[in-house]
Amino acid sequence: MIRLAISKGRILEQALKTLKKVNISCQVDPLNSRKLIIPTNLQNLEIIIIKASDVPLYIDSGKIDLGIVGVDTLMEDDKNNHFRLRDMTISKCKLVVAGKAKTKYFNNMKVATKYPKVAKKYFENIGFQCSILELYGSIELAPVLGLSDFIVDIVETGKTLEENGLREHDIIANVSSLLIANKVSYKLKRKEIDSIIGKIKL
Ligand code: PRP
Repeated sequence: MIRLAISKGRILEQALKTLKKVNISCQVDPLNSRKLIIPTNLQNLEIIIIKASDVPLYIDSGKIDLGIVGVDTLMEDDKNNHFRLRDMTISKCKLVVAGKAKTKYFNNMKVATKYPKVAKKYFENIGFQCSILELYGSIELAPVLGLSDFIVDIVETGKTLEENGLREHDIIANVSSLLIANKVSYKLKRKEIDSIIGKIKL
């Protein structure tokens, strides 16, 4: 059995479309179900529905063989103890620094983010100290309500920034979703994994 983790949200929707195109379908629609382990029409493939930031831990521990996860999540994961098999070229977005238009970077500024390590490293590299406020959603609220000076977050269409009066200051990375594999699974179940990946022609 091969278990494939797909993170919730935008990656899930787009990944399901990609799988559907190659005739891999879920027995239960993950978008309308609370089931976390979903059988597919392939006898040896299960889809595991999971929070993005939890994908690396499950893959690295070997409990799940494969995962579709954003580069942003992998940048925040300092272990990176898995193989990166291919770019799925879905869920493309950018990881950016954003804030109010007129605010400039300064030492000891407050930065709100779901990506504390990436944010800290980015500002250190460009020579600024900052204190990180780790938030878990609606990050844009922080500078709007004055909780932080900047945010480090994902921008896809740019609508959230625009509708909340914020603007992009710097791009940290371009992001898409990668297919990753547990190293041991990939050695022991190589044939099975390759046959599944082989079906997913992009
Ligand atoms: C993400 C991200 C931004 C938004 C950007 O949030 O954190 O808030 O999408 O998308 P846009 O550029 O297309 O407007 P998500 O919808 O995943 O929810 P969250 O805020 O709860 O993390």
